[in-house]
Amino acid sequence: MIRALQTEKTDSRQPLAAFVFEKEKAVLGFPQDKKLFDAAQSEGFNGKAGRASLLHPKSGSPARLVVLVGLGDRKKFDLEALRKGAAIAAKKIRSLSQTSFSLRLPEILDSKSEAVATVEGASLALYSFDKYKKKSSSDKELREITLVGSKLAQGSIKEGLRMGHILSDAALFTRDLVNEPPSDMTPLEFSKRAETVAAQGKAAGITLKVFDKKEIEEMKMGALLGVARGSAEPPVFIHLHYKPQNSRKSIALVGKGITFDSGGLSLKSPQNMETMKMDMAGAASILAVFKALPALKPAVEVHGILAVTENMPGGRAQKPGDILRSMSGKTIEVLNTDAEGRLVLADALHYAVKQKPDAVIDIATLTGACVVAVGSLVAGIMGNSDDLASEIEESSKDSGERFCRFPLVEDYKEGLKSPVADLKNISSVRGEAGSIIGGLFLQEFMDDRPWVHLDIAGPAWTDRELPYCKAGGTGFPVRTLLHYLLKQ
Ligand code: BES
Ligand code: ZN
Ligand code: ZN
Repeated sequence: MIRALQTEKTDSRQPLAAFVFEKEKAVLGFPQDKKLFDAAQSEGFNGKAGRASLLHPKSGSPARLVVLVGLGDRKKFDLEALRKGAAIAAKKIRSLSQTSFSLRLPEILDSKSEAVATVEGASLALYSFDKYKKKSSSDKELREITLVGSKLAQGSIKEGLRMGHILSDAALFTRDLVNEPPSDMTPLEFSKRAETVAAQGKAAGITLKVFDKKEIEEMKMGALLGVARGSAEPPVFIHLHYKPQNSRKSIALVGKGITFDSGGLSLKSPQNMETMKMDMAGAASILAVFKALPALKPAVEVHGILAVTENMPGGRAQKPGDILRSMSGKTIEVLNTDAEGRLVLADALHYAVKQKPDAVIDIATLTGACVVAVGSLVAGIMGNSDDLASEIEESSKDSGERFCRFPLVEDYKEGLKSPVADLKNISSVRGEAGSIIGGLFLQEFMDDRPWVHLDIAGPAWTDRELPYCKAGGTGFPVRTLLHYLLKQ
């Protein structure tokens, strides 16, 4: 995690990053320094988004090493463009083996948000999961970024730095959990991480209860237990609770925590299984929310309810045709053991409803269909409350994380009818609206409480390098959730 500082004036001994808009012949923050821009332009730099130019100016320049980064079209400039620009700057500076640099804020949007986005872009871009790699002694680490802004803005920049740190720290914590190999990140290990988070947050009002397999049986969570049957690792059910003194309402965050999804007896293909350690990203993002709560102290009560298990095809695994009795009393005919997320969530959502929260948000890598529909950069959002969905969408503008609204088409519920149980876990109509079917199934356990379901199957993970994320877990949608909680 990079350390961020602030200043009014650049230190010429430090490398400097500054921004340029496309087709504008000036460096933001240094309008009078024509030589700087001309030098970059002579090497073909034009301020296009994604481009950077490295300069070693002679004299009279704010620094001896300058990286100019293109921000693209000024009319399209937003916080996401700045996040990406800061990411490019940080990666470029690191490639030069520098350990610190200054960055001149554009000061076009509000200074606090610009500082948040800059810290996010730089620290998220520099992250890599190298715990299991040999450490090379020549690797210099880029440790420090100093944001340069006007005198008047110093207060807001300071606040932004703090926020940026907390938000990116939470996202990186999620990435660490998701990137861990599945045989290390077992349900038991996950519960230990939760214990650490709760211990750190105790003074801030965080409590934790981890239910073991016996207690899960006592609670009659037959759907979670059905999924866990095929695994040698016992499941855990985690209830985190944050209660500030001044809370106005309570929110339940419910997470799918499949630490490895083999598909169970409805086994996945080898290729589809490759990334299935990420199937606990929903639960991981909620644990990361709790890691950030003590620093952010939102005035809202938060429940974190996580159903954590492997989905494996062991000798005692549940079989297609089995009927599970969920905690709610509703029975479920399991026709595809790979549709396990909705099973563990059935019990977790019912448990959440029993806490009587004002709103429930579930976060789950639920369906491959969602990746087909909106791709790997966008999550699906659906539920029984348009207002709640709008609030999440509003918060996603602050984070740059993208969501697309899906309709919970009532008529499709017909396909979930079972001749032998209250519900089936897949629809008899195959090959269409897979994400919506998943959402409709979950809705059966909501008892009409305001609820949205975030299907993060696409954006929780990336196979290719993104502007501020290497291949692996992304940390999606932690920053959106935190912005949402702060607005309550
Ligand atoms: N964990 C998967 C969904 C998934 C797929 C997440 C790809 C991330 C990337 C989920 O448990 C699953 O297997 N869903 C099935 C549902 C189907 C059997 C109705 C799917 O999407 O194929
Ligand atoms: Zn599955
Ligand atoms: Zn799954």
